[in-house]
Amino acid sequence: MKQSDSLGEARNLARRYFEQQSLFETEVFLPPKPVAKRLRVLRGAWTPLPLSLDEFEKQIHQCTRCPLGQTRKKFVFGVGNPEAEIVFVGEAPGREEDEQGVPFVGRAGKLLDQLLAEVGLSRKDIYICNVLKCRPPENRDPEPIEIETCKPYLLTQLSILRPKILVCVGRFAAQVLLGTKESMKALRGRLFPWDGAQVLITYHTAYYLRNPNDIHWGQEDFALLRRLYDEIQSSG
Ligand code: URA
Repeated sequence: MKQSDSLGEARNLARRYFEQQSLFETEVFLPPKPVAKRLRVLRGAWTPLPLSLDEFEKQIHQCTRCPLGQTRKKFVFGVGNPEAEIVFVGEAPGREEDEQGVPFVGRAGKLLDQLLAEVGLSRKDIYICNVLKCRPPENRDPEPIEIETCKPYLLTQLSILRPKILVCVGRFAAQVLLGTKESMKALRGRLFPWDGAQVLITYHTAYYLRNPNDIHWGQEDFALLRRLYDEIQSSG
């Protein structure tokens, strides 16, 4: 193993450790080398670190760490291409997503599909998930405690996915990932660096359902997404 590979591995381990501190209670490294098994205690059960999205979903899909775990119908983990270079992050499941357990399947999701199609992309080119995995009752805004509780899940998903482009759909995703309180007006259409990815901020598609005259902003943002994606593809 090259020195840069082992440094990269150490960095990944350290990052996962800090991201998951609030998710897992205890971390245990079991010798002997060369492959020390990494085990964590997740809600009282011995649980290996997730190596894939499927494994991670199995670990957390019965979560009741916040009150939304009592009111949801389905846990909405995320869907899409696990190899995708583009990951979309929305706010929280709505009524239809709660029914089906799949993100962005309602009207806002259909508009997102349309914006993707206009730039020659589709769901098979992306992975999509939300900041919150459970529906807030009556689609109210997420509460800070819900965001803090769910954030390690999103960060763990992103560390498994390692996207090149992260699209924040709406202010909650932007605030959670960038830690900013700037307005969407100030953030929209701009790119920010985030752990090896470029973050593109766009208004939530639900906003365009309410304000159809502004849809050209969404179209501009998706055109920028397409240009970024092409640049990434051509640079190998
Ligand atoms: N809005 C979101 O932010 N996420 C969904 O999954 C659906 C609507």
